[in-house]
Amino acid sequence: MTEALLTVDRVEMVFGGLRAVGGVSFSVKPRSIFGLIGPNGAGKTTVFNCITGVYTPTAGEITFQGRPIAGKPAYAIADAGVARTFQNIRLFGTMSVLENVLVANHRASKASFFDALLRTRHYDADEAAMREKAMELLAIFKLDDQAEERASSLPYGDQRRLEIARALMLNPKLLLLDEPAAGMNSAEAQVLQKQIVALRDRFDLAVLLVEHNMQVVMGVCEDLHVMDRGETIAEGTPAVVQSHPKVLEAYLGSSVRSGPWVTTEPSPETPAEVVLKVDDLRVNYGGIKAVKGISLEVRRGELVALLGANGAGKTTTLKAIARLLPWASGAVQFLGEDLAKREAHTLPGLGMALSPEGRAIFPNLSVRENLEMGAFTVSDRAKVARGMARAVGLFPRLGERLSQAGGTLSGGEQQMLAIARALMSEPRLLMLDEPSLGIAPVLVDQIFEALEKIRKEGMTVLLVEQNTRRALGAAQRAYVLVTGEVVLSGEAADLRDDPRVQSAYLGETHA
Ligand SMILES: Nc1ncnc2c1ncn2[C@@H]1O[C@H](COP(=O)(O)OP(=O)(O)OP(=O)(O)O)[C@@H](O)[C@H]1O
Ligand SMILES: [Mg+2]
Repeated sequence: MTEALLTVDRVEMVFGGLRAVGGVSFSVKPRSIFGLIGPNGAGKTTVFNCITGVYTPTAGEITFQGRPIAGKPAYAIADAGVARTFQNIRLFGTMSVLENVLVANHRASKASFFDALLRTRHYDADEAAMREKAMELLAIFKLDDQAEERASSLPYGDQRRLEIARALMLNPKLLLLDEPAAGMNSAEAQVLQKQIVALRDRFDLAVLLVEHNMQVVMGVCEDLHVMDRGETIAEGTPAVVQSHPKVLEAYLGSSVRSGPWVTTEPSPETPAEVVLKVDDLRVNYGGIKAVKGISLEVRRGELVALLGANGAGKTTTLKAIARLLPWASGAVQFLGEDLAKREAHTLPGLGMALSPEGRAIFPNLSVRENLEMGAFTVSDRAKVARGMARAVGLFPRLGERLSQAGGTLSGGEQQMLAIARALMSEPRLLMLDEPSLGIAPVLVDQIFEALEKIRKEGMTVLLVEQNTRRALGAAQRAYVLVTGEVVLSGEAADLRDDPRVQSAYLGETHA
């Protein structure tokens, strides 16, 4: 039997009264791809934080290449050959793509501080070698053409790939990936799967993967370890784990049953009032045309989905509607008001709420305070109380954690908070940017059920979502974007079986 590269032995992590990790053991073999999965808040990211030295485990031991590492400083563990990506993207947005990869390396570089100061020949040669290596890594992820672009201008999926490239600059023997496929559609996730396997082969490393996308997990992992509420509930090969009753119940939900579409009632005969009307909207980022003349409308009580690959312009469209980005041209009417004359901060008062991609909750405020911030008119006690009750009803986990700081919630818990917060203001139009991002399959079910419920109560929703099947299951109508233009639109029921929807995604991947 091969000796393990990494051994996690009865590791425990307690925060105040909460046992986030309650004695978890597993080991990862060299050159293997190992998956750590489980529901939101199971303790996966906390395990990553213990392995990488962010936390000292309360109990237990972690061994890497035969040496104990638990409690060692993060830089020492990184030097020993353990690299990671973060669940929430941590790039330097204003730096270029290439610079983001190069910064990872100042530790791994052989040149000394004095070399750098004096710019010796050794330093220049070293720097050239580093640039070459960085470009090679970018090329693996097809990001080499964008090397000089600002990191923040990349679509979300590419930013995640860039993070992996950066982690690889440290020449790790073990690469920890925390939800690399979050925000990717299924075509992109497929490409990512191949890239993960290719990395392992090319760099001889082992991968420890936390991921909620089951297509990716089941596609690449040789072994799986499943946690729930800090405890191990199953382990073994994907085949074993997939049919394990506890895993089905706690984690997979209906995602494994490829059941029929959720049926939605046909649109009513007399169309309801138009809540949002977008007319030939154009948005540019510098010289790049991100949105090239989009027109759409959303009627009262409708759930309308905006679909398309990463980079198609969905988030840009939402942000532009909310006046968070300047328009190059076009017009937007919201409840009859011309939004050209409005500033972003006045829109919540008009009844528009946006739950942004990547959550953006207040990390130092408690869950309760974050929700109250969403109410917009905190003085309206009755409204705040209604909102709180609705939030806790939709997401019981939030109810258990009302006084926990937002920033310490797990990724999925933060997503629940972002959605619940957007609902607090009882908006006339709710715009959601990828609510299923980072959410465990069983909870994706719950979120879409919650959306159905909210809409049936009369809420109007504009939904951006990578999960096409779910979005078309919940929506009445949809628009499909490709590179900043609407290429297809219609009743969700008709689009479900339309092969052009799939090709709109496939046409734009990094394959
Ligand atoms: N610093 C902290 N203080 C208090 N509670 C914490 C802290 N860090 C994490 N937790 C809690 O510990 C539990 C485990 O969190 P963790 O981030 O490890 O979950 P996860 O499995 O990565 O979930 P997700 O899939 O949603 O990202 C969560 O309920 C979280 O709220
Ligand atoms: Mg996590």
